[in-house]
Amino acid sequence: MELFIDTAEIEEIKSLNITGLIDGVTTNPSLIAQSGRNIIETIAEICSEVSGPVSAEVTATDFDTMIKEGKKLSAIAKNVAIKVPLTFDGLRACKAFSDDGIMVNVTLCFSAAQALLAAKAGATFISPFIGRLDDIGADGINLISEITEIYEIYGFDTKVLAASIRSVQDIVDVAKLGADVATIPPKFLKAMYNHPLTDKGLSDFLADWKKTGQSIL
Ligand code: E4P
Repeated sequence: MELFIDTAEIEEIKSLNITGLIDGVTTNPSLIAQSGRNIIETIAEICSEVSGPVSAEVTATDFDTMIKEGKKLSAIAKNVAIKVPLTFDGLRACKAFSDDGIMVNVTLCFSAAQALLAAKAGATFISPFIGRLDDIGADGINLISEITEIYEIYGFDTKVLAASIRSVQDIVDVAKLGADVATIPPKFLKAMYNHPLTDKGLSDFLADWKKTGQSIL
């Protein structure tokens, strides 16, 4: 499973990208607003740091302006994936961009029916929002299960990008269901590798090693 980082903070991206474990980045208008920076400059900087797909979202709601915005974002770098909302105009824009060979991430997906349409529109990625469904008492993980099942039956190439992740357990759950990608806030990458028994085990090993008086180097 690929791991994308869900942030527009370039310093955080750089600090995690040195692991070689980051396969891409997702941003959205809220994350750009949080960064306090210009969207074009920010996306350009992220694309120069990360070679995998970097999602940049259009903010127009009508087809014609979505196309204009998407073309401008796409011109920033080859690895930009245009993010469009799962609306009538967004699906139209998705089809137009994908027909032109441009990567598209269809976002704000909350149902399997929506995901089916996005795949038919040629989406590179579909972004089901798990956490926001859980927030209203629905079952976000079940949505991943429904979408992966449907895409498998029909052989769609669209990648399932589990978004709106709220916990490490969410990441494990979507991995078990075969999600192609999970996009995670930076703090969850740290939470994925941290374990108190790893810390304790290492501390014990180092204490014993010190008693030997040896040095490997
Ligand atoms: C990613 O593409 C989404 O924009 C993001 O995961 C949304 O997460 P949130 O529901 O925590 O805002």
